[in-house]
Amino acid sequence: MTKQFARKDLLGIKDISKQEIERILDETAKMFTSFKQGEKMSYLSGKNVVTLFYENSTRTRTSFESAAKLLGATVINISASASSVQKGETLVDTGITLDSLLTDIIIIRHPMGGAPWLLARNVKASVINGGDGMNEHPTQCLLDLFTIKRNLGEFKGLKVVISGDIKYSRVARSNIWAMQKLGVHVTVSAPYSLLPAGIEQLSGVTVEPDLDKAVQGANVIMGLRVQSERQNTALFPSVKEFNSLWGITEARVASADSNVIVMHPGPINRGVEIDGSVRDGEKSAVSEQVTAGVAVRMAVMHLLMNKEGKANG
Ligand code: CP
Repeated sequence: MTKQFARKDLLGIKDISKQEIERILDETAKMFTSFKQGEKMSYLSGKNVVTLFYENSTRTRTSFESAAKLLGATVINISASASSVQKGETLVDTGITLDSLLTDIIIIRHPMGGAPWLLARNVKASVINGGDGMNEHPTQCLLDLFTIKRNLGEFKGLKVVISGDIKYSRVARSNIWAMQKLGVHVTVSAPYSLLPAGIEQLSGVTVEPDLDKAVQGANVIMGLRVQSERQNTALFPSVKEFNSLWGITEARVASADSNVIVMHPGPINRGVEIDGSVRDGEKSAVSEQVTAGVAVRMAVMHLLMNKEGKANG
């Protein structure tokens, strides 16, 4: 009998164990196959899913909606700009209202770190963090892990280089927490103004500001968008200089391991943190990441609802 996932919510990667990560990735592998085969399932039949997004999104919101519908759920999308949040309603009161509408799962994206934890404490529905400020983005991390595992096999001993805006990135934080648990060695490469204080003290993490050195022999190169919306001031002199020192270029990819994959969570700024030819090149796993995002979100929602189901037809 397969062990079910014993949580009400999925809030952060920091909070979950290596075994729970592996359980989600195993379930994702099954969902990935079903998704690619166009199979619809009934695991969430009769369930109500709400996406509650206080920040913009393309990939996360649409893939949650797609995942929920493939599993048979009803989906309602709420954006803060079109909700009673604009009239001063608090997050907790919005959550209580969604509980009264018999919501089973709320996926929240919020600019404030910790908002999903506040919501989860105050609602009966399962809460999934779709990205909170610069804190965590657990399902992005899980889809990144799934993509790495699919392409490279085992995690232990891999060298993953994360370049770009580490300081303001919830994706970097979730990935660093996960990779520490999985025995992956992480090298971060960025200007010091875009590195969080104390990162060099994290075990399993190396700081190498010279990206040309950092990428030598790397198994994965992960670029991150410069998050100007979270910065109060310009943290590097020019985009041109940033691209020349920290951009993922074809020359840098060529000096990594011959089986390297290049990843990026999106949205992408071509010619800033990654060159267009690398994004579209043969080492790029960026489109595969997006597809994996649907499967990982199917797996997470299925596990949280802890309900065995059967494929339709
Ligand atoms: N990677 C990611 O979170 O993308 P969106 O902002 O489009 O959801």
